[in-house]
Amino acid sequence: MFTAGIDIGSVSTEVVILGEKNEILSYTVFDSQVDIEKTVQEAFRIALEKACLTSEKIDSVVSTGYGRNNVPFANKSVTEITCHALGAQHLFPGTKTVIDIGGQDSKAIALAGQGNGRVRVVDFIMNDKCAAGTGRFLEVMAGVLNIDIKDMGCLSQRSNREVSISSMCTVFAESEVISLIHQKLPKEDIVSGLHTAIARKVLSLVQRVPMEEEITLTGGVMKNRGVVEKLRQELLPKRINLPDEPQIAGALGAAIMAKRHTVSRT
Ligand SMILES: Nc1ncnc2c1ncn2[C@@H]1O[C@H](COP(=O)(O)OP(=O)(O)OP(=O)(O)O)[C@@H](O)[C@H]1O
Ligand SMILES: [Mg+2]
Repeated sequence: MFTAGIDIGSVSTEVVILGEKNEILSYTVFDSQVDIEKTVQEAFRIALEKACLTSEKIDSVVSTGYGRNNVPFANKSVTEITCHALGAQHLFPGTKTVIDIGGQDSKAIALAGQGNGRVRVVDFIMNDKCAAGTGRFLEVMAGVLNIDIKDMGCLSQRSNREVSISSMCTVFAESEVISLIHQKLPKEDIVSGLHTAIARKVLSLVQRVPMEEEITLTGGVMKNRGVVEKLRQELLPKRINLPDEPQIAGALGAAIMAKRHTVSRT
């Protein structure tokens, strides 16, 4: 039995294809375009190609993410909360808390361990409609600093004297960074300060749900090792799990959900 999970986020769209034994056969990560259906079709086509499968071979498709209702061929759509929880627990079965930082959302999910491969969400919290503590915050700052967002993690490793960023608000932090650039402070020290700012902002929100070990990190922002490092420091001595590909956790959870959907139909 083959299934697919599709996560249409505000910034990126991921597809995961699962095999007979719940193993990941392939995945794709695409930028979410204005034409969601076209992006999904393309991301799905490439994922099938990578897995050497055709769409007829896929028994069930589950969509998730903010664009989840725009997948005409999906058998079901499920909330991101459930899918991130399922994906994280599939990768790290001991997961009790998930912290997800995406393009416009950051959230924490508390799970109850049931020990039978079933996941139960006991609590969750999400940021309000504000870019602080999300990938958007770092995207704006990368623009001001004229650097690629993908380079922020590496750049911050070179910092010797982190600059403290006092504004949490994206608009005020942007002005603060412009002023720091004018003061000729090294970019790596500014970036390191931004990573601390985002880690603290996210934790101030997510600590409103019980932060129990093990904590699994998901979402595209977790590809930034600078942010992950700051989260680890702030959460010491808690055990933190980082997936090899944190951005596909939601799509993975959707593909697992699709498997359950198929089983319950047969
Ligand atoms: N290679 C990378 N290095 C550093 N950061 C990255 C990288 N790739 C993506 N990001 C960050 O991840 C963010 C997107 O994360 P993700 O794909 O989880 O968001 P999304 O699911 O589309 O959004 P949301 O869940 O908020 O709707 C981008 O805004 C960017 O900040
Ligand atoms: Mg997301």
